Amino acid sequence: MKPKNIVYILVLIFFILACKKEVTQLFEGFQKPSNFPEPVYKFQNNNITKAGFDLGRKLFFDPMLSVDNTISCGSCHIPTSAFTQHGHSVSHGINDLLGTRNSPPIMNLAWSSSFMWDGGIADLDLQPIAPITNHVEMGETMSNVLLKLKNKTEYAQLFKAAFGSEEVTNIKMLKALSQFMLMCVSAESKYDSVMRKQQTFTTDEKAGYLLFQNKCNSCHKEPLFTDNNFRNNGL
Ligand code: HEC
Ligand code: HEC
Repeated sequence: MKPKNIVYILVLIFFILACKKEVTQLFEGFQKPSNFPEPVYKFQNNNITKAGFDLGRKLFFDPMLSVDNTISCGSCHIPTSAFTQHGHSVSHGINDLLGTRNSPPIMNLAWSSSFMWDGGIADLDLQPIAPITNHVEMGETMSNVLLKLKNKTEYAQLFKAAFGSEEVTNIKMLKALSQFMLMCVSAESKYDSVMRKQQTFTTDEKAGYLLFQNKCNSCHKEPLFTDNNFRNNGL
């Protein structure tokens, strides 16, 4: 081989390795935005890894979690509309059955100490049991979901990569779902970059912000725009 060709090949190998390195570095795990308070989720019980996140994402969009294999978490929590179900006033589950509420966004859940519109669930790791077993949402049982996951061979490897063993359990499944949901952090709005002093508000935005601070901030506490309380505001 000509020396010139060897140089080309070496350069090519360098770029391939460089690209590979970049891909593995892309996943930075959970990062607290600098303008946010400390999260309340107990990460020490569920350390977020790329493999755990990937498994959680696969589970979140797997319709096998429903009784007739048609509805996934992502059917009602649609990523392109902030993980809500647009175009409906209440959620649609299996057999087009209607719920009584619409899906809230999946975002910044690491800062929530209670879940659902009425705060009825206190632990994110237990939350998925509610939609999976709800008769108008996914209509399944936890044990049957487990059976289906065990029978789908690709999951064994994914569980092993995420949690060290091929054994598929409900606890691991729930932890992986949490890992995916916890990574849905919304902190790149103009508001956030202004708070981080990377941008400034226009005159109108500033007037709106002042109005908001006077009239709304008592309940919609910055920077998460909620005080995590529940009030009857007459709606
Ligand atoms: C049929 C539609 C539907 C499906 C399927 C569904 N959800 Fe939901 N989700 C909802 C609705 C509606 C609520 C609000 C329920 C309430 O307030 O009682 C909700 C609430 C939540 C919340 C609480 C968010 C918050 O801010 O309080 C989380 C987390 C969540 N869902 C995750 C999931 C996961 C994980 C799955 C899949 C295992 C799933 N959902 C499947 C409709 C759905
Ligand atoms: C007394 C407390 C309180 C004050 C003050 C308040 N809100 Fe709210 N706001 C709420 C509650 C509670 C909800 C949720 C209502 C529900 O879903 O049933 C809400 C919901 C909202 C929503 C809908 C959010 C969503 O995800 O659907 C918007 C937008 C909103 N408020 C804006 C404002 C603005 C703008 C102001 C100031 C002019 C304001 N709020 C003042 C308590 C308050």
